[in-house]
Amino acid sequence: MKRRNFIQAISAAVLAMSGFAFNAAAALPAIDVYKSATCGCCSKWIEHLQANGFKVNAHDVPSPSDYRSKFGMPQELGSCHSARVDGYALEGHVPASEVKRLLAERPKAKGLAVPAMPLGSPGMEVDGARSDPYDVLLVKADGSHSVYRHYDGAPAKNAAGSAAQMKPAMTEGEIKKVDKAAGKLTIKHGPITNLDMPGMTMAFRVKEAAMIDQVKPGDKIRFAADKTGGALTVVKIETMN
Ligand code: CU
Ligand code: CU
Repeated sequence: MKRRNFIQAISAAVLAMSGFAFNAAAALPAIDVYKSATCGCCSKWIEHLQANGFKVNAHDVPSPSDYRSKFGMPQELGSCHSARVDGYALEGHVPASEVKRLLAERPKAKGLAVPAMPLGSPGMEVDGARSDPYDVLLVKADGSHSVYRHYDGAPAKNAAGSAAQMKPAMTEGEIKKVDKAAGKLTIKHGPITNLDMPGMTMAFRVKEAAMIDQVKPGDKIRFAADKTGGALTVVKIETMN
């Protein structure tokens, strides 16, 4: 390549790159969020996205988990809301910074998920309370996933913050799936106040292996759930049949 052509090629490349950066900043695609009307933390996540420059179309729907299936997100990675941005699926309290990285890198993937509702993730901040460690997962087309970014937890800052984390309370639900091999129960449930979780269908671990044998799909139950080692866990269960 002649020197002059080389310089022209370089300046064209620089122009293309700056043009790309400008476009990325100027036109973030809109995010469509599917949530239940009563979900407080979903609205707080939407505010977080808006504060980071995204336009958000919020849709209140009777059953956000239907959209999780529709977007091809594995149910066991479920959270309280499902969203769609520029062909990608977003599940749960995904930080805006990872959404921007996803849109810039455009990996071949289904999208990003933050399963359950980790305390301290965007929209799940409780004043003074601890933050749970959590992973933002990159979910591939076949449902397998890898860690896209890890967030460290932090201890509670004051006594009021610790008090904000309530004792597990009993919630009503219905068993949808029993996965003995994985030690997990999928439960369609009402709001779980101690986890600040609205009603949804979600997979839980069980505290004791015997709990798995106690129930079958279709059973109406009352149960208490808590976060143990970062995982949503059924700590108490009773059938109502
Ligand atoms: Cu939530
Ligand atoms: Cu939500």
